Order: sequence, then C-alpha cells, then structure tokens
Amino acid sequence: MGLPLSSFAPERTETEKEIHRLVRRLAAHGLLEWCLGGARDRQPDVIIEPQIPDYWPRVAPVRASDVLVLSRFAYLRRRGNDLVLESPRAGALFRFHNRKLANAVALLAAPRRMRELRRQDDFPNNELCGLLLDCQILFKIEPERVDALRAAEGDSNLVLWDFHDLLFHARSMEGRHANPQGGLYSHAGLIPPLPAVRPRWPGKKVDLRKLAAAQSRPISPKLLRDRHSTRIFDDERPIAIAELARVLDATARVQSKWSSNDTGVVVEYAARSYPSGGASYPLELYLGVSKCEGLAPGFYHYDAGSHSLVAISVPPQQLEALLRGAQFAMGAPGQPQVLITIAARFGRVAWKYSAIAYALILKDAGVLMQTLYLAATEMGLGGCAIGTANIDLFAKMTRIEIHIEGPVGQFALGRAGKVGNP
Ligand SMILES: Cc1cc2nc3c(=O)[nH]c(=O)nc-3n(C[C@H](O)[C@H](O)[C@H](O)COP(=O)(O)O)c2cc1C
Repeated sequence: MGLPLSSFAPERTETEKEIHRLVRRLAAHGLLEWCLGGARDRQPDVIIEPQIPDYWPRVAPVRASDVLVLSRFAYLRRRGNDLVLESPRAGALFRFHNRKLANAVALLAAPRRMRELRRQDDFPNNELCGLLLDCQILFKIEPERVDALRAAEGDSNLVLWDFHDLLFHARSMEGRHANPQGGLYSHAGLIPPLPAVRPRWPGKKVDLRKLAAAQSRPISPKLLRDRHSTRIFDDERPIAIAELARVLDATARVQSKWSSNDTGVVVEYAARSYPSGGASYPLELYLGVSKCEGLAPGFYHYDAGSHSLVAISVPPQQLEALLRGAQFAMGAPGQPQVLITIAARFGRVAWKYSAIAYALILKDAGVLMQTLYLAATEMGLGGCAIGTANIDLFAKMTRIEIHIEGPVGQFALGRAGKVGNP
C-alpha cells in the first residue's frame, strides 16, 4: 500500500501534517521508493529508487514545444532481474517494470520534440518525462543546438567529463548512491581470497637476496621502513600549527611556476614535491581541524600558492559529520586531529586528457598520500590514508557542484597516540 504524492500538499489536517513529516523522515533515510503508473492489482510501470538522502520527486514542467534528449551520462542496464535507468548526476534511479516504456525512453537517444513523441504508442506521460528531467537523465535543448549535444548539456566543467569517469567518481565515493560500499566481504565463502604474494613463475630464478650485502647504501631505509598507518592520536598533546605548516610546506606547497604553449594555448603550471600526471597538479587540500594547537577548529582550504590556510565557514554539524566519517572509516576510538580531504579540480586534467583523466587523478592522490605519510613519519607525527569520502557532504560544505571539484581521498593526521594501532 502506498500514498499518492498529491496527498502531501497542501496539508489540511494535523494528521496529514504528521504523515507528511513521517514520510519526509523516511525519505531522508532512503527508506522510501516511489511508484509510477500501473493498475491497482498490477506492478507499477516504474519504481523510483532514491540515491541521495534528500531526494524528493519533483516533476519539471514539460511543454509540447520542448525538445528533449537523453543525457550522455544516462544508462540503461540489467540489475538482477530488473532493468534500471540511472545516471551519476541523478538523485534517483528508475526501475522499469513496463519494458515498452523503457523502449520509449530509449527513443530519446536523439533529440525529439515532445509534441511528436506524444503521438507514439506507449510514450511516457509528462509526469515521467518531468521526473527524468528533474533528475538530469533527460535535458531540454534549444532546437538550434541539437547538433552540439555535448556542449549543450551543463556548464563547461561538465563538458570536460567523459561518461565513464563521472560514473566511476560518483559510484566509487560515498554520498551520491545507495549501494553497499566498503569492506563487505561479499565474495567470502563463494570465492577463495587471492594469495597475499603472487605464486612464482616457472622460469629461471635469480635470487636477489644474495646481493643484499653489496647494497651498501639502500634508499632512505628509515623513512620507508618506519612508515605505517596511525589511527589513534594523542589528544593530550595535539599537533601544533607549526608542525602542520611544515607538513604542508613539504608535501603540497607550490615550489615553482612556469607556463608553456600547449597547442596554441598558454597553460600555467605549478610544481609541487610529489609527481603528477602531465604536471597538472589537480589536487587541493581541505583541512577539517578538530584539535590543533594554535589553530581554531574549523574547515580550511590550503592555498598552496601562498602557503596559507583560508577558513571556510561551515555549519558545525557538517564538520562533525566529516570528522565522524573518517573516524568510522578507520575504526578508530576518536576523531583525527586534522583530517585532510584531498579534492580534485577535475577539469584541470580532463581539459587535456581524454578517457584517462579520472584514473590519472586517482594515481596522483596515491602518490600524494605516500608523500604525506613520509613527511609525517619524518616529523614523528602519525597519519592514515582513507580511501573514501562523502562527495555530497563536501559539495554542501564548499557549495561547489560534484562535477567541478570533489574529494578523491582523505588523510588523517595528528600526534600518534601511545596505544598500538590495529
Ligand atoms: C588508498 C588507501 C586507502 C586506505 N583507506 C583506509 C581506510 O579507509 N581506513 C583505514 O583504517 N586505513 C586505510 N588505509 C590504510 C591501510 O589500511 C594501511 O596502509 C595498510 O593496512 C598497511 O598498513 P601500514 O600503512 O601501517 O603499513 C588506506 C591506505 C591506502 C593506500
């Protein structure tokens, strides 16, 4: 049994208001699905599954003269026995029970005028088109731009994204999907784990251990061997602002600048101490500070050019949610003293590189993480890489849309606690 959407507004009685509040709370926890069409005794035509906590179905207005087309980020796929239409940009996915309706939506692979579409049998009504428009699975296009679909969809930051890159980003981080995520051991009991060390090849073996004595000057053995993850911090003696400044100076500060002429366009470069694909350096550091001697708790951007921290005003609950998320990811008893969110300016890389932009960004994040580990080790501080981050929370804190700049990893930093680490 369900309730029709129209029954919520305007609320008339106290009971209706109470039901509305309850439904909103259920929706915020992702516990509601929305059904469209279908006769009373049959399955609905389409079921809408929210992907973000604040999804609430809205029907965007559609006129007969509007020209509609599918977003290039939308895709139709089999999930179990279902056919689902989704997009990394959408707040919800659409599960189609009525396959004719799915076929009809597929007609929008090319721009079509609504007036013509309505003449087709089984074509979705305005309500479904309006819901898909609201989810950015469909978009309206000016008739004179139908030959430049990529350029016509979204701002220039979106134009720079390739389909698989945005999908990978939105689905492999938290916040913009409702899929189970993280160390769930989904295949345990079904498939044995791969061995920790790869079984050796059958060829002739050259034993390098015999050469160990000859290696009189191994590479910085102390730093590399001492590096380890620290998840418990000494809150009696938190990291001090001068130590934080030194870590940032060593790892992320701009060291030199130059410009070059790339295909007729003058491009500026700003080198740092870690390597970056194409010297793009798309990564930005945002600091969630809970305990740092000499620095007020809050959220900051590290301006790598001027080596300074710039405060960003955020509601305390958002900072708390950020720090709690990191604590949870580390299975730690307390919050990190400083949580570095590694965010990427995606367009910086995608402007040059096709198909490999997002992969390059993740590789950059990996080398930056190791650089942070080594700096922390050298200074006697503790750190821990965190592979995940909530892209929706970051978007709310920075008020930057997810496709412009967003987190690709995090690093917890502080003075190591005395208790052993897991
Ligand atoms: C990309 C990446 C993601 C990681 N994510 C997490 C994480 O979410 N939570 C956590 O507790 N540790 C995380 N770690 C730390 C690893 O668990 C740790 O490096 C590994 O257990 C080896 O231990 P060591 O760093 O002390 O040598 C991550 C490490 C890397 C490189």
